[in-house]
Amino acid sequence: MTLKEIVERARQGAKVPIVERDVERALSALLASEDIWRVIDLSQVPVMALVQVLSALKDTGLLDWDGGRLVLTPDGKRFAEAEELGPRLELKCPHCGGRGTTLGPVEEIVEKFKDIAANRPEAIQDYDQGYVTEETTLHRVAFMWSRGDLYGKELIVLGDDDLVSIAAALTRTPKKVVVLEIDQRLVDFIRDVAAKEGLPIEVVQHDLREPLPANIRGKFDTFFCDPTESLRGFVMFAERGIAALRGPGAAGYLGLTHCEASYDKWREIQRFLLDAGAVIAELRDAFHDYVNWPYIDHMRSWPHLPVHRIPGRDEIWYRSALIRVEVVKGPAIEERRYEGDIFADEEAATT
Ligand SMILES: [Fe+2]
Repeated sequence: MTLKEIVERARQGAKVPIVERDVERALSALLASEDIWRVIDLSQVPVMALVQVLSALKDTGLLDWDGGRLVLTPDGKRFAEAEELGPRLELKCPHCGGRGTTLGPVEEIVEKFKDIAANRPEAIQDYDQGYVTEETTLHRVAFMWSRGDLYGKELIVLGDDDLVSIAAALTRTPKKVVVLEIDQRLVDFIRDVAAKEGLPIEVVQHDLREPLPANIRGKFDTFFCDPTESLRGFVMFAERGIAALRGPGAAGYLGLTHCEASYDKWREIQRFLLDAGAVIAELRDAFHDYVNWPYIDHMRSWPHLPVHRIPGRDEIWYRSALIRVEVVKGPAIEERRYEGDIFADEEAATT
């Protein structure tokens, strides 16, 4: 058995890219954990590719999954050793959760924000929602502040189930915060909180498949969004965000996972950002931790998983990178109207 044979087997019937390194990443994760959710997280292989690799490892006698655990067989362990693969190391800093920053002055709003978020609308599948932990939202705001993208600036948030607008406005530093949001429950919730707390947030109900309202285009210093991860959906969010920016020096923030995006997709996204006139100024992997959403056993990848255990709400496995882009030229965006489903592509796993 060789890596090449395993990857060829994994590719049979697969509609997503799978490379030999993905098999290595999966084996390293399996050497570190027997739990499906930990293996997904540690491997950094897109879920729809990983399930193909796991099947190939089982078919070749290297892996077994009786009893809800993913267990390398003696042959599997010998194979990993022969390939000189060690268990995946996760060396996350215990102080900052691996984000590399502290909350700084945002510390002062932690309690208030958590009280508000306790009454938030639950994530629903209709809009591919799945919100990040409150700690993550607060770290996002601290990060924007530290980069000069918040204090005295005008911020637009495109889709806000993470309540970034509220946390940002609670710091009393941005000049203005605008939210474009499709979900009526969130529109109402954010408006109510803004009124009650006296926050400078304006919420506009808007379907991002439609181009930006004219009075929003080219007006902002900063955008924040956590896009859906189909390539089309991601580019749509990025287009809207960049189109909302004033020009050179303005910044945007986006989230991007490994769970639903191969490096092929990352490359397409990076090409799009560069062509739009932006540069990836910073990328912090695994900055965002997501609370498990209630429709996990109805998500696209669920029937493909080798074992079916619903993870606890705070058993974090879905994470995404924080990407900060800054406009250098232009920006050059041709705003288009999008039709139909923007959530699905072959790598989509949690829609
Ligand atoms: Fe740290």
